[in-house]
Amino acid sequence: MRARKKSWAEPYLEAHGELVIGEIDPSSDFFLSSPKYLEIGIGKGDFILQMASAHPGCYLGLERDSNVLAVAAKKVVEASFENRIHLMLVDFDDAYESLSQLRFDVIFLNFSDPWPKKRHWKRRLTERKRLANIVSLLEDDGEIRVKTDNQSLYQFTLEEAEADGLDIVVSEENYEFDSAHDAMSEYESRFRGLGNPIYRIILKKKVK
Ligand SMILES: C[S@@+](CC[C@H](N)C(=O)[O-])C[C@H]1O[C@@H](n2cnc3c(N)ncnc32)[C@H](O)[C@@H]1O
Repeated sequence: MRARKKSWAEPYLEAHGELVIGEIDPSSDFFLSSPKYLEIGIGKGDFILQMASAHPGCYLGLERDSNVLAVAAKKVVEASFENRIHLMLVDFDDAYESLSQLRFDVIFLNFSDPWPKKRHWKRRLTERKRLANIVSLLEDDGEIRVKTDNQSLYQFTLEEAEADGLDIVVSEENYEFDSAHDAMSEYESRFRGLGNPIYRIILKKKVK
């Protein structure tokens, strides 16, 4: 879903180059810290901000829509969290090559676009080739945590994970929110408010 255009969004992102980075420098102090977390499709940033305030580490958030990323960036600046969170205005497919200089402990996919029409399933973040690319960014014992309210995306993700030979550590159809280890994104708050079940999957690389 496209957010309404905000005239201040792009100038704001450009003015905050310390937070909204254009490229990855793996030798920077930021990326030398650990654990490392990546969220793909951060929306307006509630999840990444709550996680970073509860669980120290280095958080990188990707978002391809400048109008929502600017809202997230403003929240990070207001919370003075630029040391813990960096953001990129980019599509995952375009960022993948430069991200592969890093290894993440946890990669979050929260309420990714469901692309309901079958002819668009190739665009889903968990499509098997893209999912294999995401997995290649993990530390050996790292994990991918997926949440969605969309049953089709949930089933699809399980099938793609099987096809990629991943270990499905958790797959649950009515995830009870675990506030000690998790945070709520804008979409999760909205869907829980509507009483929708939340599906959750945790994936790891198979130990050889
Ligand atoms: C349905 S929204 C969910 C936002 C947020 N994760 C949440 O749970 O509230 C999906 C977001 O992912 C972003 N997105 C989708 N595909 C992406 C991609 N390939 N790379 C970066 N961002 C992406 C969209 O622009 C959108 O803001």
